[in-house]
Amino acid sequence: MGRLDGKVAIVTGSTSGMGRDTAYVFAEEGAKVVVVGRRENRAKEVVETIKENGGEAIYVVADMSKPEDIQNVVDKTMEAFGTIDILFNNAGVVSFKNILDLDYDEYQNVMKINVDAYFLMTKAVAPIMKEKGSGAIINTGSVAGTAAKWGPCVYATSKHAVNGLTKAMARELGPEIRVNGILPGAIQTEMLDSAGGADAMEPMKQMSPLKKLGVGREIGTVALFFASDDSSFITGQLLRVDGGVDC
Ligand SMILES: NC(=O)c1ccc[n+]([C@@H]2O[C@H](COP(=O)([O-])OP(=O)(O)OC[C@H]3O[C@@H](n4cnc5c(N)ncnc54)[C@H](OP(=O)(O)O)[C@@H]3O)[C@@H](O)[C@H]2O)c1
Repeated sequence: MGRLDGKVAIVTGSTSGMGRDTAYVFAEEGAKVVVVGRRENRAKEVVETIKENGGEAIYVVADMSKPEDIQNVVDKTMEAFGTIDILFNNAGVVSFKNILDLDYDEYQNVMKINVDAYFLMTKAVAPIMKEKGSGAIINTGSVAGTAAKWGPCVYATSKHAVNGLTKAMARELGPEIRVNGILPGAIQTEMLDSAGGADAMEPMKQMSPLKKLGVGREIGTVALFFASDDSSFITGQLLRVDGGVDC
C-alpha cells in the first residue's frame, strides 16, 4: 500500500534535481506521475526509470515561461489520467546578477518561470481539484525567500513572492485544497552546480548543524508528506528544508 495510491501528480521541473527525485518518490508511493520540463530526452529517461521500477508515468515537454505550454500540461494530464490530485510547482531558474547588472528581460524571465508559472499552473489545476473535493499543491520556494543574503536580486524577489503566493493560495483555495511551501537550502542539483557546486557551498555546509548539503530525495520525502494525508491538517505553511543553516 503506497501513501499516494491512485493519485495523479504533476511535478514541474522533474527532468533533473529535486523535481526528478520527487517524481521517483511519488511513483514509489503509488502515484501516476506527469514529468514536466523542456528537455525531452531527460523527461523520457525519468519516465522509463519509473516504469522499470513498476510505476506509472508520462511526460509532457513544456516551457514554463509559456502560458500555452502550461495549459497543455494540464490538458495532456487529463487526457492520460482523467484527474489531478497533486501539483508540485517546482520548476525554477536562478540568476546571480545584482540589481545594477540585471537587465529587465532577464528579470522578467526569472519572474515568469519562478512565480507566474506557479500562478498559471495553479489556476489551471485548482478548478479540477475543487470539483473533485480534494487536492494538494506544493510550491518550491527557497531560503532565498526569507532573506536577501541567500540569493541576489531577482532570485530573492521571486522566492519571496512564492511565499506570498503559497499563503494566498492556501487561504483562497480551501477547504478542498491544501497548499504548502518547501524552502530548500543548498541541495546538490544542477542548479547548485551552476552556483559553483559543493565547493562554493562549503560555508553554507559549515553553517549547518548537520554539516552537510541536502540531496533531492530529502526534498522528495517532504513533498510526499505535504502531498499525502499525513499532512491533512496542514495548509499555508512554509517549511525550511535546509539543514538548519539559520537556526
Ligand atoms: N538546488 C538548490 O540548492 C535549491 C535551493 C533552493 C531552491 N531551489 C529551487 O528548487 C527548484 C528545483 O531546482 P533544482 O535545484 O532541482 O535545479 P535543477 O536540477 O536545475 O532543476 C530545475 C528544473 O526546472 C526545470 N526548468 C527550468 N526552467 C524551465 C522552463 N523554462 N520551463 C520548464 N521547466 C524548466 C528544468 O527542466 P528543463 O531544463 O528540462 O526545462 C529542471 O527540471 C527550483 O525552483 C529552485 O529555485 C533549489
